Amino acid sequence: MELEEELLELTRALRAHAEWQLACGAHGLPRGSSTSVVALEPEVRRGPVERARGPRGDGGRGASEPGRIDGRHPERFEDARVDGTRAAHARGGEAPAEPAPSAPRRPSGGPAPDAARRLEVLAEQVRGCTACGLHAGRKQAVFARGTGSSRLCFVGEGPGADEDAQGFPFVGKAGQLLDRMIAAMGFERDEVYVCNVVKCRPPNNRKPEAHEIAACSPYLHQQIELLDPEVIVALGATAVEGLLGVTGGITRMRGRMKLYKGRIAVMPTFHPAYLLRNPAAKADVWKDLQAVVRQMGRQLPSKR
Ligand code: URA
Ligand code: SF4
Repeated sequence: MELEEELLELTRALRAHAEWQLACGAHGLPRGSSTSVVALEPEVRRGPVERARGPRGDGGRGASEPGRIDGRHPERFEDARVDGTRAAHARGGEAPAEPAPSAPRRPSGGPAPDAARRLEVLAEQVRGCTACGLHAGRKQAVFARGTGSSRLCFVGEGPGADEDAQGFPFVGKAGQLLDRMIAAMGFERDEVYVCNVVKCRPPNNRKPEAHEIAACSPYLHQQIELLDPEVIVALGATAVEGLLGVTGGITRMRGRMKLYKGRIAVMPTFHPAYLLRNPAAKADVWKDLQAVVRQMGRQLPSKR
């Protein structure tokens, strides 16, 4: 590797580490030589395959402090109002001047020119798919919503009754909460891409089984490949499983940025349906979403 490239790589790793610390509520970095810098950093750097095989340990880190970053606004999604105060400022710390680049981007930095057409071809394929038993109970397959022009993507579990009826993901109650989350982050509803791990509604809204996830996830991987998002928010454990092949409790995984195929940042967080049942967890989700906004180099919208 060229020296310049190596330096760039090192700078990226340091930025990712600093961003990670910030998301966990750290005030600053330790002075002098510290092994903890090395020990904490690989979470974002390692590829998903390596992580999937590795132990589910957290590298010696404890859980991040609940409600630490902007935990004063857990009801933020209720009315989608935001105060524009960046998390670091809220704690009296320094906000990073730039986002933490998570991985080298494609040279083009965007989706392939014919991506929209190929996504439409893929959607057509999904509409006629009978690769797993879920096709039998569907009214229609649910492919995606949104243009993805913001390069932010949300991945959920699978369609529910409303989605099955309307043909679009996240249009029911959980979807309305997701829309408020998107607005609170400063994005337009239609500029984010929203899809699910399985495209057909599981009976009685049960969790999709491993073989159904396996049958359907090639569609998800192709969607992501064509879309080339900058950040993916994985909503719930099934989304993490479908994206990264990692199974585990979402409570342990949430808030820890991972890399999809070694290059796209993935933020695992709680599913909005879970938030409807446990409103107190909104503070944690808001913390995760703020880290995503920072990762994308954007500001939160100012208070209205
Ligand atoms: N829950 C999901 O995971 N996906 C949807 O599309 C709707 C609810
Ligand atoms: Fe095909 Fe996926 Fe529907 Fe199964 S859930 S039938 S794999 S589109």
